[in-house]
Amino acid sequence: MDRLRKVKSFIVMDVLKEAQKYDDTIHFEIGEPDTEPPPKVWEYTERAVKEKINCYSEALGLTELREKISKFYYDKYKVDVSPSRIAITVGTSGAFLVAYMILLNQGERLALTDPSYPCYKNFSYLLDINPVFIPIDKTTNYQLTVDKLKEYKDIKALQITSPSNPIGNVYEKKVLKELIEYCDENNIYFISDEIYHGLVYDGKEYTALQFSDKSIVINGFSKYFSMPGFRLGWIILPEDLIRKAEIVLQNVFIAPPILSQYGALGAFDYEYLNKIRNIYKERRDFLYKELSKIFDIDVIPKGAFYIWANIERYSDNSYQFVKDILKNIHVAITPGVDFGENNTQKYIRFAYTRDINHLKEGVERLKSYLKC
Ligand SMILES: Cc1ncc(COP(=O)(O)O)c(C=O)c1O
Repeated sequence: MDRLRKVKSFIVMDVLKEAQKYDDTIHFEIGEPDTEPPPKVWEYTERAVKEKINCYSEALGLTELREKISKFYYDKYKVDVSPSRIAITVGTSGAFLVAYMILLNQGERLALTDPSYPCYKNFSYLLDINPVFIPIDKTTNYQLTVDKLKEYKDIKALQITSPSNPIGNVYEKKVLKELIEYCDENNIYFISDEIYHGLVYDGKEYTALQFSDKSIVINGFSKYFSMPGFRLGWIILPEDLIRKAEIVLQNVFIAPPILSQYGALGAFDYEYLNKIRNIYKERRDFLYKELSKIFDIDVIPKGAFYIWANIERYSDNSYQFVKDILKNIHVAITPGVDFGENNTQKYIRFAYTRDINHLKEGVERLKSYLKC
């Protein structure tokens, strides 16, 4: 089938499959939180199960949940977002699908950074949209700048991620603001994947909505809220686009999962979430310090739960490098090539989504295997 021709496998999932063959694998590959969701999430889910709630919600999601998300934007960023602009989706993955479907026609150009989260480009291919890859590197701390964006013409939408996967960098306020202003002035839809918001360890993150109401913001419950299996995300759209999103959602999903939505009503427990953030910060501090002794690391990862490590002193083939490591010492890491083609053979990505003892064991095995 032609449409699938360019869609490549999500390599991290292939690495995970291979890693599961060994009982003693150290997992640095998958960005799936091992931490518990806020306690009320389970309580509310159990209550919904006991009450045998088993209906479709509105296609845009439960009003109560949309109101909680609206309040979250006020509490965290002091921005007013009407619940009527929020649609609940099946993961943020569902939100990308909606965004691309309503914003871009066949053949139109979606700007993405290289490296970036692999599924963006694959969604584009599935929808016959043309992804345009803009290289980013350490010279701008892996941020896309307006100067760079200006080199690319006929862009209909731009998607960025901050804090980012795979780098863990966080956009500076000035850079983000300039990008958004440029997009607004040039009629480019600005799509901001903010799924790692809340997991920021140095400095502060800004939602695109602090700079423009026209921005399209995508976020979800899989990372900061530690609820990956609930499969819930959301998208915030300008008022005039929400009906379009609703039509897509009605047809593609009918409604987001109802039990998960009831559970998510218990997710906004900031005291608990802050403790979780501190757990990831401690892991970041440990792993960054230790990996810096083994690899070159271009930027201090200030957010998300990833470290992007340069392997040039050992190899220039990241996929082969991680395959050898997995086979020989049962340590699973994601090769840079999963995230694009811009120098990605020279990089690998570590996720710190396991406890410190697990990370320590991984570091020890790597040190001894790589003789450092
Ligand atoms: C940058 C980014 N966006 C979106 C997702 C998808 O998350 P979900 O569909 O679980 O919300 C991921 C998952 O790893 C991610 O890293």
